[in-house]
Amino acid sequence: MLVFVPPHPLIKHWVSVLRNEQTPSPIFRSAMAELGRLLMYEASRDWLPTVTGEIQTPLDVASVEFIDPREPVAVIPILRAGLALAEHASSILPATKTYHLGISRDEETLQPTVYLNKLPDKFPEGSRVFVVDPMLATGGTVVAAIDLVKKRGVENNQIKLISAVACPPALQKLSEKFPGLHVYTGIIDPVLNEKGWIIPGLGDAGDRSFG
Ligand code: PRP
Repeated sequence: MLVFVPPHPLIKHWVSVLRNEQTPSPIFRSAMAELGRLLMYEASRDWLPTVTGEIQTPLDVASVEFIDPREPVAVIPILRAGLALAEHASSILPATKTYHLGISRDEETLQPTVYLNKLPDKFPEGSRVFVVDPMLATGGTVVAAIDLVKKRGVENNQIKLISAVACPPALQKLSEKFPGLHVYTGIIDPVLNEKGWIIPGLGDAGDRSFG
Protein backbone atom coordinates (compact mmCIF):
# COMPACT_ATOMS: atom_id res chain seq x y z
CA MET A 1 0.00 0.00 0.00
CA LEU A 2 1.19 3.52 -0.76
CA VAL A 3 0.36 6.55 1.38
CA PHE A 4 0.80 10.01 -0.17
CA VAL A 5 0.83 13.28 1.76
CA PRO A 6 1.25 15.70 -1.14
CA PRO A 7 3.79 18.37 -0.10
CA HIS A 8 1.75 21.31 -1.33
CA PRO A 9 1.33 24.64 0.51
CA LEU A 10 -2.39 24.81 -0.33
CA ILE A 11 -2.95 21.40 1.22
CA LYS A 12 -1.13 22.54 4.38
CA HIS A 13 -3.23 25.71 4.37
CA TRP A 14 -6.62 24.00 4.19
CA VAL A 15 -5.63 21.38 6.79
CA SER A 16 -4.67 24.26 9.10
CA VAL A 17 -8.04 25.99 8.57
CA LEU A 18 -9.78 22.70 9.40
CA ARG A 19 -7.73 22.23 12.57
CA ASN A 20 -8.67 25.62 14.01
CA GLU A 21 -11.47 25.24 16.55
CA GLN A 22 -12.53 28.83 15.73
CA THR A 23 -13.36 27.96 12.11
CA PRO A 24 -17.14 28.24 11.70
CA SER A 25 -19.12 25.50 10.00
CA PRO A 26 -19.57 27.06 6.51
CA ILE A 27 -15.83 27.84 6.28
CA PHE A 28 -14.97 24.41 7.65
CA ARG A 29 -17.11 22.81 4.94
CA SER A 30 -15.60 24.87 2.13
CA ALA A 31 -12.06 24.20 3.41
CA MET A 32 -12.86 20.48 3.40
CA ALA A 33 -14.17 20.76 -0.15
CA GLU A 34 -11.02 22.60 -1.30
CA LEU A 35 -8.80 20.02 0.35
CA GLY A 36 -10.77 17.27 -1.39
CA ARG A 37 -10.37 18.98 -4.75
CA LEU A 38 -6.58 19.21 -4.33
CA LEU A 39 -6.22 15.62 -3.12
CA MET A 40 -8.35 14.27 -5.96
CA TYR A 41 -6.28 16.31 -8.41
CA GLU A 42 -3.13 14.71 -7.05
CA ALA A 43 -4.70 11.25 -6.99
CA SER A 44 -5.84 11.53 -10.62
CA ARG A 45 -2.33 12.16 -11.91
CA ASP A 46 -1.22 9.30 -14.17
CA TRP A 47 -4.36 7.37 -13.23
CA LEU A 48 -7.21 8.64 -15.40
CA PRO A 49 -7.04 7.31 -18.96
CA THR A 50 -7.10 9.79 -21.82
CA VAL A 51 -7.88 9.77 -25.53
CA THR A 52 -5.93 11.79 -28.05
CA GLY A 53 -6.99 13.40 -31.29
CA GLU A 54 -6.91 16.62 -33.25
CA ILE A 55 -9.13 19.64 -32.91
CA GLN A 56 -9.54 22.87 -34.84
CA THR A 57 -8.67 25.96 -32.80
CA PRO A 58 -9.64 29.40 -34.19
CA LEU A 59 -6.12 29.53 -35.73
CA ASP A 60 -4.88 26.03 -36.49
CA VAL A 61 -5.23 22.32 -35.87
CA ALA A 62 -3.95 21.18 -32.47
CA SER A 63 -3.22 17.80 -30.94
CA VAL A 64 -5.49 17.35 -27.94
CA GLU A 65 -5.96 14.95 -25.07
CA PHE A 66 -9.18 14.47 -23.14
CA ILE A 67 -10.20 12.25 -20.25
CA ASP A 68 -11.66 9.13 -21.87
CA PRO A 69 -15.40 9.29 -21.14
CA ARG A 70 -15.79 5.55 -21.83
CA GLU A 71 -13.69 4.62 -18.77
CA PRO A 72 -15.89 4.52 -15.67
CA VAL A 73 -14.90 6.59 -12.65
CA ALA A 74 -16.83 6.32 -9.39
CA VAL A 75 -16.77 8.55 -6.32
CA ILE A 76 -17.96 7.08 -3.04
CA PRO A 77 -18.42 9.62 -0.25
CA ILE A 78 -18.85 8.06 3.18
CA LEU A 79 -21.61 9.99 4.93
CA ARG A 80 -21.76 12.27 6.50
CA ALA A 81 -18.32 13.92 6.55
CA GLY A 82 -17.26 12.45 3.20
CA LEU A 83 -19.90 14.57 1.49
CA ALA A 84 -17.94 17.73 2.26
CA LEU A 85 -14.59 16.28 1.12
CA ALA A 86 -16.15 14.97 -2.13
CA GLU A 87 -18.07 18.14 -2.90
CA HIS A 88 -15.91 19.22 -5.86
CA ALA A 89 -15.42 15.73 -7.30
CA SER A 90 -17.86 16.20 -10.13
CA SER A 91 -16.41 19.57 -11.10
CA ILE A 92 -12.81 18.37 -11.41
CA LEU A 93 -13.42 14.80 -12.62
CA PRO A 94 -15.31 14.64 -15.91
CA ALA A 95 -18.01 11.97 -16.15
CA THR A 96 -18.02 10.50 -12.65
CA LYS A 97 -20.82 8.69 -10.93
CA THR A 98 -21.42 9.19 -7.23
CA TYR A 99 -22.50 6.30 -5.03
CA HIS A 100 -23.33 7.20 -1.41
CA LEU A 101 -22.40 5.05 1.54
CA GLY A 102 -23.70 5.96 4.99
CA ILE A 103 -21.60 4.49 7.78
CA SER A 104 -21.69 5.57 11.37
CA ARG A 105 -19.23 4.63 14.11
CA ASP A 106 -20.63 3.70 17.52
CA GLU A 107 -18.82 6.05 19.90
CA GLU A 108 -18.72 3.40 22.67
CA THR A 109 -17.68 0.26 20.78
CA LEU A 110 -16.04 2.13 17.85
CA GLN A 111 -17.67 -0.41 15.52
CA PRO A 112 -19.07 0.81 12.17
CA THR A 113 -22.68 0.29 11.06
CA VAL A 114 -23.74 0.68 7.44
CA TYR A 115 -27.07 2.56 7.35
CA LEU A 116 -27.20 3.50 3.65
CA ASN A 117 -25.74 1.62 0.70
CA LYS A 118 -26.24 3.02 -2.79
CA LEU A 119 -23.45 0.95 -4.37
CA PRO A 120 -24.34 -0.91 -7.57
CA ASP A 121 -24.58 -4.74 -7.46
CA LYS A 122 -21.44 -4.76 -9.59
CA PHE A 123 -19.21 -1.88 -10.73
CA PRO A 124 -18.66 -1.62 -14.50
CA GLU A 125 -15.58 -3.47 -15.74
CA GLY A 126 -12.38 -1.44 -15.26
CA SER A 127 -13.94 1.08 -12.87
CA ARG A 128 -11.62 3.43 -11.05
CA VAL A 129 -12.99 4.25 -7.62
CA PHE A 130 -12.35 7.13 -5.24
CA VAL A 131 -13.44 6.31 -1.67
CA VAL A 132 -13.75 9.59 0.24
CA ASP A 133 -13.75 9.85 4.05
CA PRO A 134 -11.99 12.70 5.91
CA MET A 135 -11.05 10.80 9.06
CA LEU A 136 -9.15 7.51 9.20
CA ALA A 137 -9.06 6.78 12.94
CA THR A 138 -9.31 3.10 13.94
CA GLY A 139 -9.89 2.38 10.25
CA GLY A 140 -13.05 0.36 10.98
CA THR A 141 -15.29 2.58 8.84
CA VAL A 142 -13.08 2.72 5.79
CA VAL A 143 -12.26 -0.99 5.90
CA ALA A 144 -16.00 -1.75 5.95
CA ALA A 145 -16.48 0.59 2.99
CA ILE A 146 -13.66 -0.89 0.91
CA ASP A 147 -14.87 -4.43 1.68
CA LEU A 148 -18.25 -3.48 0.21
CA VAL A 149 -16.60 -1.98 -2.88
CA LYS A 150 -14.37 -5.02 -3.44
CA LYS A 151 -17.31 -7.42 -3.17
CA ARG A 152 -18.69 -5.60 -6.22
CA GLY A 153 -15.79 -6.45 -8.49
CA VAL A 154 -13.12 -3.80 -7.83
CA GLU A 155 -9.46 -4.67 -7.13
CA ASN A 156 -7.27 -2.88 -4.58
CA ASN A 157 -5.22 -1.16 -7.28
CA GLN A 158 -8.39 0.33 -8.81
CA ILE A 159 -9.20 2.15 -5.56
CA LYS A 160 -7.83 5.47 -4.29
CA LEU A 161 -8.73 6.54 -0.80
CA ILE A 162 -9.00 10.28 -0.14
CA SER A 163 -8.84 11.55 3.45
CA ALA A 164 -8.07 14.74 5.35
CA VAL A 165 -6.38 13.22 8.41
CA ALA A 166 -5.09 9.68 8.81
CA CYS A 167 -3.88 7.94 11.96
CA PRO A 168 -1.35 5.06 12.12
CA PRO A 169 -3.82 2.38 13.39
CA ALA A 170 -6.04 2.95 10.34
CA LEU A 171 -3.09 2.94 7.94
CA GLN A 172 -1.78 -0.26 9.51
CA LYS A 173 -5.16 -1.98 9.16
CA LEU A 174 -5.55 -0.81 5.56
CA SER A 175 -2.08 -1.98 4.53
CA GLU A 176 -2.69 -5.43 6.02
CA LYS A 177 -6.08 -5.83 4.37
CA PHE A 178 -5.61 -4.06 1.05
CA PRO A 179 -2.10 -4.23 -0.40
CA GLY A 180 -2.03 -2.24 -3.62
CA LEU A 181 -4.36 0.43 -2.28
CA HIS A 182 -3.28 4.07 -2.67
CA VAL A 183 -4.13 6.53 0.12
CA TYR A 184 -4.02 10.32 -0.36
CA THR A 185 -4.29 12.30 2.84
CA GLY A 186 -3.82 15.91 3.89
CA ILE A 187 -1.81 14.92 6.95
CA ILE A 188 -0.92 11.99 9.20
CA ASP A 189 -1.55 12.58 12.90
CA PRO A 190 0.36 10.43 15.38
CA VAL A 191 -2.09 9.64 18.17
CA LEU A 192 -5.43 7.88 18.52
CA ASN A 193 -6.68 8.40 22.07
CA GLU A 194 -8.62 5.91 24.21
CA LYS A 195 -11.93 7.27 22.88
CA GLY A 196 -10.88 6.68 19.28
CA TRP A 197 -10.30 10.39 18.56
CA ILE A 198 -7.42 11.52 16.33
CA ILE A 199 -5.03 13.82 18.23
CA PRO A 200 -4.47 16.69 17.51
CA GLY A 201 -6.90 16.10 14.62
CA LEU A 202 -9.69 18.48 13.79
CA GLY A 203 -12.58 17.28 15.94
CA ASP A 204 -15.73 15.60 14.65
CA ALA A 205 -15.66 16.32 10.92
CA GLY A 206 -19.34 15.40 10.44
CA ASP A 207 -20.56 17.65 13.24
CA ARG A 208 -18.25 20.50 12.24
CA SER A 209 -19.39 20.27 8.59
CA PHE A 210 -23.11 20.01 9.18
CA GLY A 211 -23.66 21.40 12.67
C1 PRP B 1 -16.29 9.48 11.61
C2 PRP B 1 -15.38 9.83 10.44
C3 PRP B 1 -15.08 8.47 9.82
C4 PRP B 1 -15.06 7.58 11.03
C5 PRP B 1 -13.64 7.32 11.42
O1 PRP B 1 -17.58 9.33 11.15
O2 PRP B 1 -15.96 10.75 9.53
O3 PRP B 1 -16.10 8.06 8.91
O4 PRP B 1 -15.76 8.25 12.09
O5 PRP B 1 -13.55 6.41 12.47
P1 PRP B 1 -12.92 4.99 12.35
O6 PRP B 1 -11.73 5.07 11.44
O7 PRP B 1 -12.51 4.69 13.77
O8 PRP B 1 -13.96 4.04 11.87
P2 PRP B 1 -18.85 9.27 12.12
O9 PRP B 1 -19.19 7.85 12.44
O10 PRP B 1 -18.64 10.20 13.27
O11 PRP B 1 -20.01 9.78 11.17
P3 PRP B 1 -20.29 11.24 10.56
O12 PRP B 1 -19.39 11.41 9.37
O13 PRP B 1 -21.73 11.15 10.19
O14 PRP B 1 -20.02 12.25 11.65
